[in-house]
Amino acid sequence: MKETPCFPIIENMKALVVGSGGREHAIAWALSNSPEIEEVICVPGNGGTAVEKKCRNLDMPLDNLEAAADAAIRELGGTAGNFAVIGPENPLAEGAADIFNAKGLPAVGPVKEAAQLEASKDTAKRFMKKYGVACAASETYTDMDSALKAVRESAGPLVVKADGLAAGKGVVVAGDRKTAEDAVRRFMDEGELGEAGKKLVLEEYLEGEEISILAAVSVTPRTIKSGEACIVPFVPARDHKRLLDGAEGPNTGGMGAIAPVPGIGVETLNRFTKEILEPTLEGFKAENFDYRGFIFFGLMLTKNGPKLLEYNVRLGDPETQAVLPLMDFDFAGMCKAITEGTLKSFSFKWKEGFICAPVAVSGGYPGEYKKHKLISVDNTAVEAAGGKVFIAGAALENGGLYTTGGRVLAGTAFGETPEKARQAAYKVLGGISFDGMFFRKDIGVPGAAVSKTMKGGKP
Ligand code: AMP
Ligand code: GLY
Repeated sequence: MKETPCFPIIENMKALVVGSGGREHAIAWALSNSPEIEEVICVPGNGGTAVEKKCRNLDMPLDNLEAAADAAIRELGGTAGNFAVIGPENPLAEGAADIFNAKGLPAVGPVKEAAQLEASKDTAKRFMKKYGVACAASETYTDMDSALKAVRESAGPLVVKADGLAAGKGVVVAGDRKTAEDAVRRFMDEGELGEAGKKLVLEEYLEGEEISILAAVSVTPRTIKSGEACIVPFVPARDHKRLLDGAEGPNTGGMGAIAPVPGIGVETLNRFTKEILEPTLEGFKAENFDYRGFIFFGLMLTKNGPKLLEYNVRLGDPETQAVLPLMDFDFAGMCKAITEGTLKSFSFKWKEGFICAPVAVSGGYPGEYKKHKLISVDNTAVEAAGGKVFIAGAALENGGLYTTGGRVLAGTAFGETPEKARQAAYKVLGGISFDGMFFRKDIGVPGAAVSKTMKGGKP
């Protein structure tokens, strides 16, 4: 007698990953670990995804998302059973999820309307205030004279934020009025950030330590009706944004991450749930969003409790490289649960321990730096530390890995304690070298993400 399987076996499930950074390498790696995934196609991917098991890069420009989606679906061999994870914010803000969904390939990533929560700081602040999400006081300005007047009348330090996407260059934490006024002029008058800076948010300065909470979201008109709409937070993570040890030097895209964040208490997490996550979910429901993807809560832990600084409508980079290796569940299964609206009953389980993920950058970054440096990786050292290298800015060329960007890679490793994770991660980086390689030595050390200096002086 022919044996009947007790649950449907999905064969030939394939996933598409859009993006080319370290986050996308980590996503592709996590997907490739799923027994149900046959192939991961990375558009365009990088030198890490080029050699990752089951992964294949598809080098394709993303400026025409319609055409890119058609080509990607052809490569996948159709849409049935497959899905697409969209890594970065730009394609999401341009409607990549809408396009994939319309073509029948379910997207893990919110539709354009919901992606405005990251693409416009003003939209995000309006949403936070409308739904009572704990956040900093702020005002939005479209006229420079009013913005300058508000700066002159401000009592304490201010944060000047360009409304639009500015690749991390749109926020100035100003310790004095002159710094804030200069920022207002550069954004609004001199057009330093183009359209992104024409509208400004002036925000109250909040003091404290920052953490990032990444979360999976499955909210659709159907799950709202059925009561299955949900946001499920992952273990908290911490990025280290400044270039140098002790949180000194210029801001960067992220010099390393640790997860979970040592010392975050249950009370803080409960307050985050009640005062930030739940009102956000209620807002998503009230707006009748189609939000199937990830959300990133950028939090300041102040003496008055956690406050939301920003939403990102995607996973964080480099937080993802520290969070995903802690999963003790099937990432591809979770992506399916997000798109199919069954996330609420999906079982999450996290490994007990820590991942430290220091980032190695090209000398000179975040300023000018040289490219096309050959990277040497001592796999024995990486394996001895039980680590994993996630590539961010490097490409494979004739079998060699060459740098292509400022942030080149993250050396990640697990440890039962933060200290053991740190030691192991730095052993991984010890096995890697390229001309001009630079990294911080204190990723994950308590206090290492808190800056002691501020442009314009400490308030
Ligand atoms: P954002 O893009 O809004 O997260 O801002 C980028 C960075 O600026 C944050 O990660 C914080 O380090 C800092 N920042 C933003 N808003 C504030 C605030 N209200 N108070 C203090 N620091 C802030
Ligand atoms: N690590 C912060 C971000 O991904 O924007």
